[in-house]
Amino acid sequence: MSSDPRSTSTNGAPAASDEHSLTVSPSGPIVLHDHHLIEQMAGFNREKVPERQPHAKGGGAFGRFEVTHDVSAYTRADMFQPGRTTEMLARFSTVAGELGSPDTWRDPRGFALRFYTDEGNYDMVGNNTPVFFVRDPMKFQAFIRSQKRRADNNLRDHDMQWDFWTLSPESAHQVTWLMGDRGIPRSWRHMNGYSSHAYQWVNASGERFWVKYHFHTDQGIEFFTQDEGDQMTSMDTDYHVRDLWEHIAAGDPPSWTLYMQVMPYEDAKTYRFNAFDLTKVWPHGDYPLIEVGRMTLDRNPSNYFTQIEEAAFSPSNLVPGIGVSPDKMLLGRMFSYADAHRARLGVNYTEVPVNRPHVPVRSYLKDGAGRHENPGDPVYAPNSYGGPYADGGALDAERGWESDGEMVRAAYVPHEQDDDFVQAGTLVRDVMDDAARARLVENIVGHLLNGVSRPVLERAFAYWRSVDDALGRAVEEGVHAKADELDPKAAHQANEARSTAQRKA
Ligand code: HEM
Repeated sequence: MSSDPRSTSTNGAPAASDEHSLTVSPSGPIVLHDHHLIEQMAGFNREKVPERQPHAKGGGAFGRFEVTHDVSAYTRADMFQPGRTTEMLARFSTVAGELGSPDTWRDPRGFALRFYTDEGNYDMVGNNTPVFFVRDPMKFQAFIRSQKRRADNNLRDHDMQWDFWTLSPESAHQVTWLMGDRGIPRSWRHMNGYSSHAYQWVNASGERFWVKYHFHTDQGIEFFTQDEGDQMTSMDTDYHVRDLWEHIAAGDPPSWTLYMQVMPYEDAKTYRFNAFDLTKVWPHGDYPLIEVGRMTLDRNPSNYFTQIEEAAFSPSNLVPGIGVSPDKMLLGRMFSYADAHRARLGVNYTEVPVNRPHVPVRSYLKDGAGRHENPGDPVYAPNSYGGPYADGGALDAERGWESDGEMVRAAYVPHEQDDDFVQAGTLVRDVMDDAARARLVENIVGHLLNGVSRPVLERAFAYWRSVDDALGRAVEEGVHAKADELDPKAAHQANEARSTAQRKA
């Protein structure tokens, strides 16, 4: 920042006044050539960029990733070589709420990481859950719309959420996570992060592996019950943003330990279910966690807009030694993010400092709105004038997999244990304890009692019975026990009573 205390217009010339517009006499009309005033108004009117379509509300911080264990047998990625420390950025978010929505609504949490590696930016754009609601990118957009707002009254609507979920049984595993304790983390510091998808790692000898990332919080998992979440929502809508900021500012940086699951390349061909199905986890008994390193977030942003709001993460930001897998969702995401960034931030979003790699970019892309640094001549390739030339062909060859067959629109070929409900049931029976199961029932019942229509409700009971018979019955009983609230007349009376109480208040 300049030591000159005087403010300027954007051309750098001293501003005449920050308080008074240029007028004909003190009370007279404003003149059009008061450029400084017009610049202030025009800039203000254009301050906002569109919010992210999903994951609009979030916050983040900078930090570092340190390798603590040697995984060079699995990947040649520079950032994972022994002894490496890499600068990074993390952004955490809710999915469905808009900018300004409460941090403590029940929702999955985004866990987006950017590593500024010596081989370019590597982004790991994950969630705090190891699975997802759908397994085909065709359904993603509709899924998000069902979580957002109705067309007629612009209200969020549990009926459309459950309508979509119960017509999409592959959602059962993720909805079980969502309705359980992980649905409202106590803070971002108290949640894990997962790649959810399988990615590919390639080692220095060209050997390939399928891998999943698990970032385990070193602060321990903690959550809010629905009541606690509701209370916090009414007290502080920015609780998670504030919590992260204050802990880092107070010198208490949160950290996460990275573990990987590593599946040998050939295993996927005969694994007992589709290894690339995003609605499934790989049981740890089959592929145990291998410790890799630690990420620590120790630097708050100095400017939220330019460093967090303009951060543009994308699963397509890959580096040598790391590739994608045949997971259809991941392949869909390879297009979607950069497209979203072009729409939200403009074609030259990669020029925003937080999005710039910490290594030189030598691309032939040029010009366009907002561009301020261009490559020079030659402007084409191939050329005989010393321009940069592509040398990464080997990368495509090493990061790949065999593929053959007719072009079809079809679900994954089902494997023997490829049932939408098996892993959700295991989560309920084997991972949750009695208290967690009781909270799960309570959360589901509370959610269903919030405007879900009869036919959808019946499907929801069947959905939960398919996950676990006892759970399904408990949900149905819980809803029926509060049947009065479902009676339209009773609901109307309750609304009337609430409105009267609010008017009186
Ligand atoms: C944000 C698309 C699945 C995690 C976004 C955005 C889009 C998008 C368009 C907004 C990007 C922006 O404006 O900056 C999709 C599509 C998906 C998909 C098309 C499936 C086909 C997933 C999955 C995960 C995920 C499976 C997690 C495993 C995130 C996160 C963000 C995000 C964390 C916020 C990134 C940030 O903090 O800026 N997604 N998504 N998405 N998505 Fe997805």
